[in-house]
Amino acid sequence: MNPSLLLGSPTIDHQHQGLFALLERLSSLPRAQEHEEEISDILGKLTKQLQHHFLTEETVMDRLAMPSTLVRAHYAAHHRIVEELTQLHMDSMAGRQRPLETIIAVVGQWVYQHIVEYDLEMKPYLNGK
Ligand SMILES: [Fe+2]
Ligand SMILES: [Fe+2]
Repeated sequence: MNPSLLLGSPTIDHQHQGLFALLERLSSLPRAQEHEEEISDILGKLTKQLQHHFLTEETVMDRLAMPSTLVRAHYAAHHRIVEELTQLHMDSMAGRQRPLETIIAVVGQWVYQHIVEYDLEMKPYLNGK
């Protein structure tokens, strides 16, 4: 994982690593074949890991001296991701799977882009601002 994405909280950083590992599994699937079961399996694991991870972050955030506007926006971003992921996973299980490239792009946003835009905001408060 890129060191600039580390927050300095071992629990959160470890969970982020687990999310990147799932993104990596998706990215390494050969493009020329169908991977319905594999993708569904990864999305199932992602759902579990993300829900657990968001709960961890929200519990941590509640203890930080972070402005409530930032905290609320971060909670809302988590909520949106869970809704979108649930929809993607349900579609995938119902045989309406999106193209692999689309899934990789959207999971990349949830994992990578979310850390850059939201999680890193916690960093100064985690390290005793
Ligand atoms: Fe996170
Ligand atoms: Fe987050």
